[in-house]
Amino acid sequence: MELTQEIKRLKAERGAVIVAHNYQVDEVQDIADYVGDSFYLSKICAQSEAKTIVFCGVRFMAESAKILSPDKTVLLPEAHAGCPMADSITPEDVRRLKAEHPGAAVVCYINSSVEVKAECDICCTSSNAVRIVRSLKEREVIFVPDQNLGSYVAAQVPEKQFTLFNGCCVTHARVTMDELNAARALYPDAPVAVHPECSPEIVAASDFAGSTSEIIDFCTRSDAKRFLIGTEMGVLHKLKKDNPTKEFYLLTPRLICTNMKLTTLQSVHRALAENKTQVEVEESIRLRARTCLERMLNA
Ligand code: 13P
Ligand code: SF4
Repeated sequence: MELTQEIKRLKAERGAVIVAHNYQVDEVQDIADYVGDSFYLSKICAQSEAKTIVFCGVRFMAESAKILSPDKTVLLPEAHAGCPMADSITPEDVRRLKAEHPGAAVVCYINSSVEVKAECDICCTSSNAVRIVRSLKEREVIFVPDQNLGSYVAAQVPEKQFTLFNGCCVTHARVTMDELNAARALYPDAPVAVHPECSPEIVAASDFAGSTSEIIDFCTRSDAKRFLIGTEMGVLHKLKKDNPTKEFYLLTPRLICTNMKLTTLQSVHRALAENKTQVEVEESIRLRARTCLERMLNA
């Protein structure tokens, strides 16, 4: 409680805003001014008038805020909170794919580094990937780095030709068909809602696929009494808070992103007290990555 009060005091003193991804631990979600999915948080950061943004999430998210708001101080409370999928692709990988497929549009999942975004034409998140790809004039699309999200988009936009990079999320890849079938057998009346980072066979066997916030909206609007959830366990906090009479079960207890769980109230407090860790992006790369992100925000 004392820590929470101190965070609030420092936040006011610094003119800061705290944003948290849906996967953050419960108490960090509770002290944040805004909680949501990647797309929502990137819009909030772009529009915010705050001088300092404390980004409770992983590095690519804080980097995206810095790309869009270079004059703001962007703090990542845990400097080592990264995303293994974002780290699985290099700018050289993108350049090689472009050389192999001249004329293709390069679509980059927001789960990527600033250097990779700088090589791509347009960004997307899991909540707008299908819309972004449909909006492209090019028939050929290179989609990086998540092959599962890429397959999900490709299935819905059959008129385009896709080349997928072979990255994936280690957390979402853990869900197996045996687990999904066992959960359905236990709760046959429960709709299955998953993130498109799950494997294509899991997505195909589910009732709903969408971003973290879309999964929360789906369950909130549905009349069903219980749900089977195929995304990181952090979403359970808002699901339960907003739907106290409904029941939620993870498809597997292994749906935990250790990077998202690094941030604690203590790290948020330290970030504000010591003004760190500041996210910095080299200016020439930032300008190229900004075009990629802004095209998404304006699409
Ligand atoms: P959302 O954009 O759905 O919030 O997802 C981000 C993410 O990292 C999923 O693993
Ligand atoms: Fe990256 Fe997966 Fe963690 Fe999302 S859940 S931040 S994609 S490792």
